[in-house]
Amino acid sequence: MKKIILAGAGLLLILTGCTNVTTEQQSGEQTSEEMQHEENMDMNHENMEGMEEHMDHDNIPSLQASKGTQELVIPPLLEKQKDSDFDYEVVAQEGTTQFFDGSLTNTYGYNGNLLGPTLQLKEGETVKVKVRNELNEPTTFHWHGLEVPGSEDGGPSDVIQPGESKVVTLKADQPAATLWYHPHPHEMTAEQVFKGLAGMLYVEETDEEAPALPHTYGVDDIPLIFQDRLFDENKQLDYKNLMNNDGTIGDVSLVNGTVNPKLTVTKPLMRFRILNGANARNYTFRLSNDASFTQIASDGGLLREPVETDEITLSPSERAEILIDFSAMESDEPIAITDEEGNALLPFDLEYDGEMKKMESISWPDNTTFLSEEEKSLPVTKEIELFGMMDKVTINGKKFDPDRIDLRQKKRVLEVWEVYNKPDEMGGMLHPFHIHGTQFKIISRDGREPAPNELGLKDSVLIEPGERVRLLVTFPEEGIYMYHCHILEHEDNGMMGQVEVY
Ligand code: C2O
Ligand code: CU
Ligand code: CU
Repeated sequence: MKKIILAGAGLLLILTGCTNVTTEQQSGEQTSEEMQHEENMDMNHENMEGMEEHMDHDNIPSLQASKGTQELVIPPLLEKQKDSDFDYEVVAQEGTTQFFDGSLTNTYGYNGNLLGPTLQLKEGETVKVKVRNELNEPTTFHWHGLEVPGSEDGGPSDVIQPGESKVVTLKADQPAATLWYHPHPHEMTAEQVFKGLAGMLYVEETDEEAPALPHTYGVDDIPLIFQDRLFDENKQLDYKNLMNNDGTIGDVSLVNGTVNPKLTVTKPLMRFRILNGANARNYTFRLSNDASFTQIASDGGLLREPVETDEITLSPSERAEILIDFSAMESDEPIAITDEEGNALLPFDLEYDGEMKKMESISWPDNTTFLSEEEKSLPVTKEIELFGMMDKVTINGKKFDPDRIDLRQKKRVLEVWEVYNKPDEMGGMLHPFHIHGTQFKIISRDGREPAPNELGLKDSVLIEPGERVRLLVTFPEEGIYMYHCHILEHEDNGMMGQVEVY
């Protein structure tokens, strides 16, 4: 074990008697006029043909800054069933949500109106989850990032028809991590996620030797699901009319489904588990006061070592866990998590008191050989080429075919996948590439070592146009798994393949 001193930890010891500090909140209720964001949108939803609607990355609508008028909703923890032959139940259902004063929006949720409860599994634990479809359309239940057999993975072939249910067995046989669950029905994933289906799935640490990180759910360990949404003039998520084939991007920022959120911070050291749950938008997160924070985990678990940074970029489906030490900051400035344009997405109301736990150091497992020289020099055995935009997207020149197996890989064998994002005449697009059933390591980006905050297990990786990324991939279980672009509209448009693990 080596000791890593957290940024600002010295200050924690000095500031023993931290007084209550409160950030200024913009007050006032939102009015319907203020919510006429559609006026700012320069998108012609009637014209869905051709390339006019291509998501030019200079053309992405800005997010509205949070007014901080609503306390952030924390998804409830999913409770264990008593006296039943399964441990948990997850029901996809219809509901309504009041995002805006005076109007109800039709939404989808798991066990509720919007999003879903957080499912916590312990490292090594096996649970039975009953999944039930109360929607009026088929759905599936996919456990993004969980290394379960293909039969439990909830891919597009694992359809649950309306009114039907089944019990899946989930074994959390992997390191502690922040994962998530969402639907994956053939050509309907984007719409169902857009309407609200997504939830957090944690694999929790059981090792006593593990770093002593904040872990009180909803208190100093907070899930943050960032999503952007586009509403029509009736404040509805009318996907068929609003959607864009390059990824549906909106100007309304939701955090855990909350519009205009703020978070009251009651502990000086906070852990945030951030999920980019958007259909297509990439986020770069910063703090409004430019302070640094510490990234501790990537998609699949703890980083090789904590990384101090002042921004992180997450593409759709990627996660990062960060620690923010509020006691190390000037007490009178308003602090918020912002996007790259400086729009406050989550303002904080600081109300912690001076009682500091001894947090002067967090010990980190010695992990310096994250990737061995041998692993780095393995030959490429699988080549993946991402190409296109709108409804012309392909992988290796093909569109998804549920009856075709594109790749085969032996269970527990390490292979190097080289994923190339082939540009087109217009330059090409960023694609977040995701593989089911595995937590991989990034070996290199265009031959260069990845950034320190990519030295951790991953299941999704953002790939720039023209870039070649090498991944070290192994599957611990058997079955058929999807790999695809996690811009959900690209996935639905066929930018997806299948690997059979045997
Ligand atoms: Cu988030 Cu195919 O999955
Ligand atoms: Cu997945
Ligand atoms: Cu894509």
